[in-house]
Amino acid sequence: MTFRWAIFGIIKAIYMRTPPSKEQGDINSTDERRKYIESLDAETRHWLEEDAKYFLHQALSTPVMNVLSRTEGPYIYDLAGKKYLDLHGNGVHNAGFSNPDVAAAVIAQLNEQLAFTPRRYTNLPAIRLAKRLIALSPQGLDRVLFCPGGSEAIEMALAIAKQITGKWKTLSYWDSYHGNGFQAASVGGEEHFTTGLGPMVPGAFHVEFPNYYRNPWGLTNETEIDELHLRQIRVILQRHPDLAAILGEPISATPVVPSAYYWNQVRELCDRQGIFLIFDEIIEGFGRTGKWFACEHYVVPDVLVLGKSLGGGVVPFAGILTAEKYNVLQHRSVGHFTHEKNPLCSAAGLAGIDYIDKYGLVENSANLGEYLMQGLRELQLRFPIIGNVAGKGLHIGVDLVKDRGTKERAVAEAERVMYHCLEQGIALKVIEGNVLTMRPALCITRDDCDWILDALGKALTEVFED
Ligand SMILES: Cc1ncc(COP(=O)(O)O)c(C=O)c1O
Repeated sequence: MTFRWAIFGIIKAIYMRTPPSKEQGDINSTDERRKYIESLDAETRHWLEEDAKYFLHQALSTPVMNVLSRTEGPYIYDLAGKKYLDLHGNGVHNAGFSNPDVAAAVIAQLNEQLAFTPRRYTNLPAIRLAKRLIALSPQGLDRVLFCPGGSEAIEMALAIAKQITGKWKTLSYWDSYHGNGFQAASVGGEEHFTTGLGPMVPGAFHVEFPNYYRNPWGLTNETEIDELHLRQIRVILQRHPDLAAILGEPISATPVVPSAYYWNQVRELCDRQGIFLIFDEIIEGFGRTGKWFACEHYVVPDVLVLGKSLGGGVVPFAGILTAEKYNVLQHRSVGHFTHEKNPLCSAAGLAGIDYIDKYGLVENSANLGEYLMQGLRELQLRFPIIGNVAGKGLHIGVDLVKDRGTKERAVAEAERVMYHCLEQGIALKVIEGNVLTMRPALCITRDDCDWILDALGKALTEVFED
């Protein structure tokens, strides 16, 4: 055993003690990962060793899978020049990777010699981006704050809810992820991000996200499932009237797509009891679900949280949109960030939005999402391992099961399918151990969709024939 694999062995042993997050998906220390890394060329393996040598190791990012040399549109390229259609992109790539318009806007902004604005000053790109977001988002969201990252945007949303309602408890969803940091991890539903940190922010209650395929009662009737999930919320509201906010993704990351009835009822509960409804659209904003914002499928929240693709896939940026009536916190700081009005990030954000708009990527997401889901449903007819296909726009999940009756998660199979797809240039992420998630850049083509379907069909055939 080489030194490198001894190191990986230690990491694996640590994993055994602290299981990696179920919701965050595929694991980076399995035999399949080892075999995959061994199949890479010597130069790549050298850089992987260097990476493992210098970075502080942490779950979900060590050891990494491969080394990238460049990205373009929906594609990523490794050091050996192999091209992959990336179906994950961490959600930053709605306008495509290395988007030329975004890059040009950032360069132009640098050439303007206005890359940063100290506090107490503003700049035109930041004002223009705020104005553009207000125009683009559903009516009733008229005020903006920016910040460097999504976790901080979640903190801002909750700070506003607490300041305005004068209450402090929160309700959010098990298995969700809303970022790092004490407040964001407290509302997140994964113990992976809180274990060992001591007391988290108190008053953070959690309920289950409505799930029509996997629910504790084995039910399939949507209304019955909705009522049982809504009951969980009502029970908490009865006992904790001091709730400031209900926070969730309109469509979960897996994805699970709730009914319109569910979010309408939650909206009503919030209105009745003076509770903020906060939607985390850090993944789902900017066309991901076939509309500019996922809340357009449902209801208008009190705060809409954006991130990832807000930076045009080039720079980090995030922010919130909220209602005019909540512009009453002049005496408080709810998002006191150095890069609050960063002109470079704002220029990137504007160019990313313009690109999505100009090339009809929201419509492309809706249309190709339908096309891909249709193709996946056809694969489901051929392969009993596909238990469920769910999604909206280009936000799709394929739930692999050992048995359609028991719905036992096909974890080992999912990992093998993922590596078979990778060999064919399709870079998938597995979430919850067995769900293949597909969130490509919104600039993909029908040919790209056919590539995904073809590769997945072949991977499933190979896994079954092994
Ligand atoms: C839904 C959701 N919310 C919040 C975050 C946190 O964003 P960031 O990593 O920019 O802090 C993430 C990041 O993955 C996310 O997916």
